[in-house]
Amino acid sequence: MQQHLPPHIAIIMDGNGRWAHAQQQPRCAGHREGAKRAALAFRACHQRGVEYLTLYAFSHSNWKRPADEVNMLMELCGDFAEQHCGELCERGIQLRVIGDLEELPTSTRQRVERTVHTTKDGAGMVLTLALGYGGRSDLVGAVRAIAARAHAGIMLPEEIDLRAIRGFMTTSHIPDPDLVIRTGGEKRLSDFLLFESSNSELFFSDIMWPDFDETVLEEAIDTYRRRQRRYGRTTEQLAVAALA
Ligand code: FPP
Repeated sequence: MQQHLPPHIAIIMDGNGRWAHAQQQPRCAGHREGAKRAALAFRACHQRGVEYLTLYAFSHSNWKRPADEVNMLMELCGDFAEQHCGELCERGIQLRVIGDLEELPTSTRQRVERTVHTTKDGAGMVLTLALGYGGRSDLVGAVRAIAARAHAGIMLPEEIDLRAIRGFMTTSHIPDPDLVIRTGGEKRLSDFLLFESSNSELFFSDIMWPDFDETVLEEAIDTYRRRQRRYGRTTEQLAVAALA
């Protein structure tokens, strides 16, 4: 049983489209409400003392969506970064990004990067947006970078370990997530932090993301606190270690 808060919470914000459909509204209305809940999530996590919050805002596979929806989501991500810049600074929250930023429209990238730059000295929580992010392509990027170094003779095979691989991933600034929350009822990771969530606790909620609130967050944190993280060891070994 954990007594502490999960230092790093990562969220798969799913269910915007179904929420909108249920309200007889276009999908973009679900995404707009979803962006408001993303703001609620960073405020609630910051208030509780969570150190890292990572939000899956746009996946690598989301590029396959209709162009109108992709454009709308790109606009929304730029708006989000811009509109909350002042509040992030006041709260001392640093905004960071993971994923393939080169794939983003220039204006989205610039708007997000401006807020990343403005908030860079924040000493509080680190809020990371996953944009054009895919866990597998992030790993491919790291393998390519390592292979290039090995080819150039500046990295030896025996120097390639977990730490080295992590260092080449866009997630290198964040620790592994302790708790991964997914809303929207599906029970899968959808290419989110695949390498990093090897030991994460998973929490699935049937709530659609635009209905996410502090009650859902509390339930996820309470569930996490009731779980025992053994990292391959036995309960008895953990009890001995706790006494030592
Ligand atoms: C999944 O819902 C959600 C997304 C593809 C995007 C998530 C984006 C937001 C919450 C808004 C932007 C957020 C930020 C932080 C700028 P879905 O459309 O797949 O829903 P469905 O499964 O019900 O169709």
